[in-house]
Amino acid sequence: MTGHNQQITAPQITVPQFHGFKQAGHKICVVTAYDYPTALLVDAAGVDAILVGDSLAMAVQGHSSTLPVSLDEMIYHAEMVGRAVRHALVVVDMPFPSNHLGPYKAVESAGRILKETRCHAVKLEGGADQADVIKALVTAGIPVMAHCGLRPQSVHVLGGYKVQRNEAQLMADARAAEEAGAFAMVLECIPAELAARISASVGIPTIGIGAGAGTDGQVLVINDLLGITSGYVPRFVKAYADLKSTITTAVGQYCDDVRAGKFPGPEQTFK
Ligand code: KIV
Repeated sequence: MTGHNQQITAPQITVPQFHGFKQAGHKICVVTAYDYPTALLVDAAGVDAILVGDSLAMAVQGHSSTLPVSLDEMIYHAEMVGRAVRHALVVVDMPFPSNHLGPYKAVESAGRILKETRCHAVKLEGGADQADVIKALVTAGIPVMAHCGLRPQSVHVLGGYKVQRNEAQLMADARAAEEAGAFAMVLECIPAELAARISASVGIPTIGIGAGAGTDGQVLVINDLLGITSGYVPRFVKAYADLKSTITTAVGQYCDDVRAGKFPGPEQTFK
């Protein structure tokens, strides 16, 4: 395992480098990870940032929304990811409702994330409504990625996971997040043309998911990217592998071998 780590020679990506990426037109690649082996692999593959998303509630824990995951559970998973990563910037989601309990509590929760994991920044859902929290976190030395557009933690207010089209609100959120000190923002489920206009109107990088190709970077949930999503796959996903078949085929072959007495064979047996 340590051998993997030693293969990574590229230096650690920093928060200030994100600004440079936008200016240089370098498209920022972000993917989620929730555990040590996956984080090792995606880091070695050369992503710019890894998000320990609260999507772990759905992707790993099997819940039907992101709401149930706790701060302790986020820290548990972020610690595994932080231990693996040598190159990418690691951003951890603030789980519901940790950023809605006022700036003091938000700093306490985000402070735990940075102290107890080796991760570098937090992400919170919100824009203008979270400006005071973003300011407090940045003042405390905690880099913040905002998350505007579709906010999965507000699924019950929104009445479902719907494309967000309120241009005035989205522009105001993006500008407020930048003004409050966010170093980047996720734009989720926004029409492509609007997301491109938002990206052009802010100085910080925008990372899109379901927001077209005009954002400064893209993020995908690793389960979706690898084709191991259980259940509904959103339209904006592209699977780059079919690991669901690979895994079920491999495990099926193992079962066949065990049942046929072919595993373990002589190579796997001590004399
Ligand atoms: O939790 C998550 O994985 C996210 C991404 C989908 C942006 O917030």
